[in-house]
Amino acid sequence: MRIAIFVSGNGSNMQAILKSIQDGALDAECVLVFSNNPQAPALEIARSFGVNTAAVAHRGMTREAHEDALLELLLPHRPDFVVLAGYMRVLTPGFLESFRDPRGYFRVINIHPSLLPAFPGAHAYEDAFEYGVRLSGITVHLADEKVDYGPILAQAAFPRYADDTLETFRQRGLALEHRLYPEVLQSIATDGVKLLPQSGSRLEVKAL
Ligand code: GRF
Repeated sequence: MRIAIFVSGNGSNMQAILKSIQDGALDAECVLVFSNNPQAPALEIARSFGVNTAAVAHRGMTREAHEDALLELLLPHRPDFVVLAGYMRVLTPGFLESFRDPRGYFRVINIHPSLLPAFPGAHAYEDAFEYGVRLSGITVHLADEKVDYGPILAQAAFPRYADDTLETFRQRGLALEHRLYPEVLQSIATDGVKLLPQSGSRLEVKAL
């Protein structure tokens, strides 16, 4: 399975994925790490794993022009899946179309730090903590045109303890992200994408 990982910041999920590949736990090849932020610490980490990197800053470009530049860099690497790991840009329907699978979904995977559909958006840890949830979690899902919304591939829950600070809460969640994302990718590498029947309703996906 050939994957391209998109990042904008720290890249701790990307690092967990690359480490799993290196350790032989994830049977995949990372053909490119791409960032919209040339200063992203993730790029340096990716290079330390010997992975190809590319960056195109989005500032001053239309969304379409930015994605055209990205697709030009990306498509020659023939990725089977795009893996979003803290990529803080919304992908256009045009981009998603280039990754449409014959079963109807887009071969673009995202990780989100809440039990979707609760707490979508860029501040899920803050929002869940602020709300006072006793249980939160992580969702890995296929991307669609809406943000943090596509068919769910896997979820895992973690507790919020009474003496948690936002930081201890976030660290517990991130540790779970780092386990869950490589595991889900490995299950796709071995068995393909498995969706529950109802999870395809918005995309007219054929469930297995
Ligand atoms: C993670 O919490 C991920 O779930 C969210 O963005 C964050 C990225 O963190 N989409 P990192 O760059 O992988 O450390």
